[in-house]
Amino acid sequence: MKKDIKRIAVLTSGGDAPGMNAAVRAVVRNAINNDLHIYGIMRGYEGMINGDFKRLETSDVSNIIHRGGTILKTARSQRFMTPEGRKLAYENLIDHDIDGLIVIGGNGTFTGAQKFIEEYPDINILGVPGTIDNDLYGTDFTIGFDTALNTAVEAVDRIRDTADSHNRLFFVEVMGRHSGFIALQTAIAGGAGGVLIPEEDTTIEDLVKLLKKGAKRSKLFSIVIVAEGNKLGTVYDIARKVEEHVDIYDDIKVTVIGHLQRGGSPTTLDRVLASVLGFHAVEALLEGKTGQTLGLKNNNVHFCSFHDAITKSKTLNKDMLRMAHILAQ
Ligand code: F6P
Repeated sequence: MKKDIKRIAVLTSGGDAPGMNAAVRAVVRNAINNDLHIYGIMRGYEGMINGDFKRLETSDVSNIIHRGGTILKTARSQRFMTPEGRKLAYENLIDHDIDGLIVIGGNGTFTGAQKFIEEYPDINILGVPGTIDNDLYGTDFTIGFDTALNTAVEAVDRIRDTADSHNRLFFVEVMGRHSGFIALQTAIAGGAGGVLIPEEDTTIEDLVKLLKKGAKRSKLFSIVIVAEGNKLGTVYDIARKVEEHVDIYDDIKVTVIGHLQRGGSPTTLDRVLASVLGFHAVEALLEGKTGQTLGLKNNNVHFCSFHDAITKSKTLNKDMLRMAHILAQ
């Protein structure tokens, strides 16, 4: 049954992603536009357990649209995984008369939200996908992905200058524990000579063959993009194994871009995506929606159940992968 939503809260959880602030801003501004009271919960589910709630006004979200990170801070809460933690969190929501919650984060955030509404269905919850990994089912893009890609590609461009000057092979590790979305697009946009991702079985022999093909046309430097979660091991192991089979380059180096990818001012695409999803999340709560994530599919707002968002996996575009391999030669 549709319930009367009067007070809502918003939190960011899991790994921060550029654009989370733009989403918070859109939630706050549209909530106030609909005469709702809006609270920010600090440090994700940890703040919900600790009762760390802040009433937010329009001016609290001024001057944040361009800022990376999250003004609400974030955490990966272990306590929220326990029934005791969730009970404390529920009691704090009730103490603040909150009837609707918007959680901005990734798979772990939505898993927590799903568990919570199974136990406490009187709180309506909607999820907004915020993770640089882009590995969420139910949306073409997640908030932060585009910014992370631009950061990674800029790093690869810089590495290319020095790789070319020194005739070196570089292995560049990008984020993606379980998925190769960042790696694949960084490889395409960065003109990489190879890409290793968790979704594909590639052997050291395959990689060596590809590099030798390049050497035949006098390509004396190369860059291979390695997703964190690739199946061949750490980027250092991969570099060592490849070194045993190739003598094309003057040297082989490893660069781990790491958390650099998570910071920085969000791109226009991320700001717009975050604004659209945050804005519509408030409207969806008012319409009585709960237990769903919002995403963008073919440029339209799309809803997906928490269940599907956390149990189904988003498939990588296989044709793009095929293309990346061909263009790498
Ligand atoms: O934000 C997602 C992600 O960037 C993964 O790709 C990465 O493995 C992980 O977060 C790192 O998380 P943490 O900062 O907690 O080590």
